[in-house]
Amino acid sequence: MRSLADLDVQGKRVLVRVDFNVPLRDGKITDDTRIRAALPTIEELRTRGARIILVSHLGRPKGVDPSLSLRPVAERLAELTGASVVAADDVVGESARACVEALAPGEILLLENIRFEVGETKNDPELARELADLCDVYVNDAFGSAHRAHASTEGITHHVKERAAGLLLEREVSQLNAILADPARPLVAVLGGSKVTDKIAVIERFLDIADTLLIGGAMCFPFLQVQGHAVGDSMCEVEGLEPAQSALEKAAAARAALVLPSDLGLAERYAPDAPRRDIEDVEVPPGWMGLDIGPRTARLYAELIDGGATIFWNGPMGVFEFESFAFGTRAVAEAVAHASGTTVVGGGDSAAALQQFGLADAVTHLSTGGGATLELLEGRTLPGVAALG
Ligand code: 3PG
Repeated sequence: MRSLADLDVQGKRVLVRVDFNVPLRDGKITDDTRIRAALPTIEELRTRGARIILVSHLGRPKGVDPSLSLRPVAERLAELTGASVVAADDVVGESARACVEALAPGEILLLENIRFEVGETKNDPELARELADLCDVYVNDAFGSAHRAHASTEGITHHVKERAAGLLLEREVSQLNAILADPARPLVAVLGGSKVTDKIAVIERFLDIADTLLIGGAMCFPFLQVQGHAVGDSMCEVEGLEPAQSALEKAAAARAALVLPSDLGLAERYAPDAPRRDIEDVEVPPGWMGLDIGPRTARLYAELIDGGATIFWNGPMGVFEFESFAFGTRAVAEAVAHASGTTVVGGGDSAAALQQFGLADAVTHLSTGGGATLELLEGRTLPGVAALG
């Protein structure tokens, strides 16, 4: 995979696929981590006199949807770079072409949401060709979208010879590959979230390569149910029962010790103001639901994290958005942040939790990828990475 340093970009039109798929509320960006993460590549290209054309998706529109315009992102990017950022009205149409034409070395253009073009997610060769026509050089810095074989992440590479990975994509791939290849041990993996089915491949992978695998979040209930515990009204994914059963069977002979919660925080309803009741075991009575790991489990998980030389964390331990049920996720976040080992946190909810607790800067690597991070750790080839050659 070629790097930015291998490219001659001076005066060239460089199309950079970034992942500016940021959360929005009432048209305002609520977390700009992904924009900040792309800054090193953008700054380097500016310094080296490239004409910078940024392309990203935002949300999952099926065609043009003004509520998912990238204009707020262009404004935020201008604030962060201190440069003016031109926002095109379209992706490969008249406005985009005219803006590219007018772009001077060191200037930045942001194309409109690439998913306004229906050919994007179909990896349409015609759209890929039109994107390629806008540039001389292609850089992929969109790690968060590297698991998608779309026109702007894969198709375009068939038409642009000069191409490389951006600094973010390169760093993500090397940090995550290091976990798979030769991690300092013990390797402790902490996996949470709501669904086992989303994470089963990565659970199985960590059973093979980790020394300890800690499970939290609603994802623990299918495991607890197949072990014969009562789950009450907890969210317990039916499709997760069979994968949980097979993971438990595999765990018996696996390298990793699989650890499940031994106590829980319960509520009678799923609501931010629902009072918390901690139970000493994992037998959830009828009419109650588990919304967090309990204090004993949180203490144990924090100790095991503390003893890790490499720690990977993905997924909350409970409903951390509700103050009374943020306890377990906060304990894990603090343990990860204070651990002396290498700490890598997969994006999505765990990144949001770290932000919420003000700990985002305290980890070795905070991945911008959700699905991409998990797919890479499962051992799958990411099309956006493979296409860079
Ligand atoms: C993400 O947020 O995980 C990436 O931006 C990919 O988005 P997608 O799942 O809509 O392709």
